[in-house]
Amino acid sequence: SAQDAAKGEAVFKQCMTCHRADKNMVGPALGGAVGRKAGTAAGFTYSPLNHNSGEAGLVWTQENIVAYLPDPNAFLKKFLTDKGQADKAVGSTKMTFKLANEQQRKDVAAYLATLK
Ligand code: HEM
Repeated sequence: SAQDAAKGEAVFKQCMTCHRADKNMVGPALGGAVGRKAGTAAGFTYSPLNHNSGEAGLVWTQENIVAYLPDPNAFLKKFLTDKGQADKAVGSTKMTFKLANEQQRKDVAAYLATLK
C-alpha cells in the first residue's frame, strides 16, 4: 500500500541504534540523505564500497533506499557491477543492518524524505 511517513518514524527507531538526522554516529547523518549522492555526509568515513557507489552515480532516492535496505551489501555491489565497475565493488559495507519488510522499507524511506 501507500507510503506512510508517520509509520516510518516508528520504523526509524531501529535505525537510531546507529543513525540520527543531524549528526554522524556509528552511521552517517541521514537528514537530507534523500536526494544526496551516496557517501557524502560531511565528516563521515565511509567504506570504499559505499564511497565508490556514490562516485559511480548512486543518489539516494526513496526508491533505491527501498531496494537497498533488504541487503545493503548486495545492493551496492550490484549497482557498481551494473555500472560496469565491478572492479570497484570491493570489500563490504559497514551497514550490516537489513530490513526485509517491504511496507516498513517504503514507510521509512518516506520518513527519511521529511528529514532535513
Ligand atoms: C549507511 C539507512 C540502520 C549503520 C546508510 C546509508 C543509508 C542508511 C541510506 C547510506 C548513507 C550514505 O551513503 O550517505 C539506514 C536506514 C536504517 C539503517 C533507513 C534503518 C531502517 C542502520 C543500523 C546500523 C547502520 C541499525 C548499525 C547497526 C550504517 C553504517 C553506514 C550506513 C555504518 C555506513 C556504511 C558504509 O560506510 O559502508 N544507512 N540505516 N544503519 N548505515 Fe544505515
